[in-house]
Amino acid sequence: MSFEQTYKEKRMAAADAVQLVENNDTIVVATAVGEPPTLLIALSEQRHAIKGVRVSQILPIKKYAYYDPSTVENIRHSAYFLGPASRLGGQEGWNDFVPANFSELPSIIKRKQTPADVVFSMASPMDKKGFFSLGLAPCYTMAAASVARNILLEVNPNVPCTQGGCKIHISQVAGFIESEDPLSEVGLPKIGPVQEAIGKYVADLIPDGATLQIGYGGIPDAVVMQLTHKHDLGIHTEMLGDGILTLLESGAVNNKRKNHNPGKMLATFALGSRKLYQFMNNNPMLEMQPVDITNDPYLAGMNDNLHTINATLQIDFLGQCGSESLGFTPFSGTGGQTDFVRAANRSNGGKTFIVLPSTAKDDTISRIVPMLSPGTHVSTSKNDVNYVVTEYGVAQLRGKSAKQRAEALIGIAHPNFRAELREQAKKMRLF
Ligand code: COA
Repeated sequence: MSFEQTYKEKRMAAADAVQLVENNDTIVVATAVGEPPTLLIALSEQRHAIKGVRVSQILPIKKYAYYDPSTVENIRHSAYFLGPASRLGGQEGWNDFVPANFSELPSIIKRKQTPADVVFSMASPMDKKGFFSLGLAPCYTMAAASVARNILLEVNPNVPCTQGGCKIHISQVAGFIESEDPLSEVGLPKIGPVQEAIGKYVADLIPDGATLQIGYGGIPDAVVMQLTHKHDLGIHTEMLGDGILTLLESGAVNNKRKNHNPGKMLATFALGSRKLYQFMNNNPMLEMQPVDITNDPYLAGMNDNLHTINATLQIDFLGQCGSESLGFTPFSGTGGQTDFVRAANRSNGGKTFIVLPSTAKDDTISRIVPMLSPGTHVSTSKNDVNYVVTEYGVAQLRGKSAKQRAEALIGIAHPNFRAELREQAKKMRLF
């Protein structure tokens, strides 16, 4: 049978496609804009007729009706990472939360340590050889597709066709629906004077020829905006956003000094504007790869001068970073933070930056603390952390003693908190 005939046979209505989900199934949904809205709306509409279904995902973009505490016996969200659309249930306890390094999710799925019965993903239109591209977010979706009973796609002409390990053949697909809605767009976060000051400190430490990973949050983007005058930069990252597009347009990125995949940018999911999605389409300079490739510390660390920039919420005197919870209240997830901190530590000439404003809540709370709040989830360990940057400067911690670390971190704390922090350090016999 020709691919075109198979295509006709597997095309279905959304209400029929979601009938392929069975009670007690786990549906693995692609990250961020890789999530298929029409399928998720159809699933939500049928939620009263199903039982024990889980939806596993990193960073949902929209809140669908299934995301409802009154129907968690029917269908429950299981987060690999909490975003704005899934934070409430994580904090109130009616979401599940599965901690993991992003790079390891594909192996956790393939080893069946977490279930993956059905895959839901956006896809580009089928090509002449019968392949769809899942290039918006191949992350863990490709691993889930290799073990799942059913792969269900939402095929949309607005989804870019990208290169990399992100193709699924029509023969592997249980069914698909077609839609033409525009993809969700996410703007750059607001950059205030604090973010800008931190961005400047980091940008000053990034040399020409560096390969970059840009993390999630306002400050990593503030760094990017201050790199437009650099030369010969390369991109080996997890999230592709509009900040990176700005760097490309400025001429700062050419990828030619990368050691791993020279000449190509690597990423595992995209989140940005329509312009970004159009840039990705049939672009030979870009590979969208599963996250066990992009975030593998060994592969990323093969690049000399790998510079990685990630944000945290709170840091203690030893440099332990609580990047994903406020005490025991979850806020996000580890994502690729540990992966890229370790990758930069392996890279010749690499530097890893953990960035944070010195305070929270209108300067009433110091984010540099003697010890993390009880229950804090530690994302970057004291053994991996290196450069820490606030709007008051840079503390370089790797190779430094506990006393030197406390001194350096108090030196970049907000001036209003320094005396109190010094007193605490004395009590802890660090001074
Ligand atoms: N005590 C109390 N509240 C705090 C706080 C603290 N120590 N630190 C932060 N907050 C509050 C902030 O005031 C802010 O609240 P608001 O929204 O009401 O203003 C909120 O928590 C978020 O803090 P902010 O610094 O604005 O976070 P962000 O949106 O820039 O995101 C992380 C930062 C840390 C959550 C995000 O980078 C993350 O999830 N990191 C881990 C994953 C990662 O790094 N992945 C990298 C690969 S993409």
